[in-house]
Amino acid sequence: MPHSRRSFLRTAAATAAGLVLPAAAFAGTPVDLVARTGTADLGLPDGKQTPIWGYGGRAPGPVLRVRQGERIARRFVNELPQASTIHWHGIRIANAMDGVPELTQDAVPAGGDFLYDFVAPDAGTYWYHPHNRTWEQLARGLYGALIVEEPDPPDVDRDEVLLIDDWRIADDGTIHEPSLGAMHDWAHAGRLGNWVTVNGDGDYALDVRRRERLRLRLVNTANARIFDLGFKGLAGWVVALDGQPLEAPLELADIALGPAQRADVIADVTADGPDHEGEAFLYAMAGDERLAIATFRVGDAIRAERLPAPPPLRPNPVPPLGSLAGVEPVTMRMEGGAMGGMTEALYKGRRMAIQDLVGEGKVWAFNGIVDLPDEPLFAARPGETVRIRMINDTSWPHAMHTHGHHFRRVGAAGELGPWRDTLVVERGETADIAFVADNPGKWLFHCHMVEHTAAGMATWFVVG
Ligand code: C2O
Ligand code: CU
Repeated sequence: MPHSRRSFLRTAAATAAGLVLPAAAFAGTPVDLVARTGTADLGLPDGKQTPIWGYGGRAPGPVLRVRQGERIARRFVNELPQASTIHWHGIRIANAMDGVPELTQDAVPAGGDFLYDFVAPDAGTYWYHPHNRTWEQLARGLYGALIVEEPDPPDVDRDEVLLIDDWRIADDGTIHEPSLGAMHDWAHAGRLGNWVTVNGDGDYALDVRRRERLRLRLVNTANARIFDLGFKGLAGWVVALDGQPLEAPLELADIALGPAQRADVIADVTADGPDHEGEAFLYAMAGDERLAIATFRVGDAIRAERLPAPPPLRPNPVPPLGSLAGVEPVTMRMEGGAMGGMTEALYKGRRMAIQDLVGEGKVWAFNGIVDLPDEPLFAARPGETVRIRMINDTSWPHAMHTHGHHFRRVGAAGELGPWRDTLVVERGETADIAFVADNPGKWLFHCHMVEHTAAGMATWFVVG
């Protein structure tokens, strides 16, 4: 039985300025999206409040909703005490709007602003977050949902976004600051928290009705935690992953959601109403314990029978994968971290021993190189099919994310997985992914355990 959610154990202790249009080019004035400090009630005991950084001063920031193919224009205003950018995670975006310092723009200094103006080609569940000092800025609460609506959305009674986060909170309710940047976390699983919230609330609850049909858009916004999620009192289907519709909806079962991953679920409330003591939950596993992270308070039946199964969502215009025959894989070997065998790597053009790298805050490498290499991992012609073989030669799972493109996993027998933008590659595992490189520009490819990114796990590729 789930109990009322609550604190995860303290596992942490244990172990080119592109397309900047003048404002006049808009029919109206672009809306500001201001990153600033604020105070949040994360549902901590004794009503303790938490100083955070957030879009609009809140964590999560506003849910941005647009229709598929629509233009999104937001003037990012940086009122934080440090430089930042916004990355629109999972959007197959124009490169100049991708928000990556070193590759697509300069970080926006404190007090500065930047106009993000782009089109969202795919319907689905996406999110936005900083891409500068992400290990700090994400941990402090800078993230929000970006929902791109289908022209013909599925028939549901309600559509709810559930941003799942994992905060590391000190005894006084503040964000645990001494451990921001702690090398121990960076070399292990990343910054794991001790307080789980859904939409910024440790006691997230929703009033629903029996047999009500919900669309739940689950987003893992944690720095590094992989959430093992389960459901009670809800039955239904997973209809999309990382924004992209599944060809056939999958019967709803447990879902492992790595950092940055999303799952769209269509679920009917099957638990009884209050008189029958039925309850519905979304829970997360913490060891053997089920922690109810979202509670659905079930009221009277909305209808006498469950609705029929939904049809699949209409596919997005992702370029289909053709034959992979003759496509030579690009190899990317992940190395380093605690309990890894890495003894040295290239950093800023110098070969350095692991002890010296640690002194620089670096402990991971791709193909023997720490941080972005001078040369891309590969260069592709627009429309070229690429295949990447990721070899996880470390003792940790890594959530690998491609910018600007979705990919499919290619199995040993050539079978193709669902379209995704982030894939968890388990320790010791080799995983091949393939996609059509159709989006011109310089694209980041990195581990989304953001401490791992900061400590070296980032590379890039170029299209065009
Ligand atoms: Cu969610 Cu490189 O980003
Ligand atoms: Cu990683």
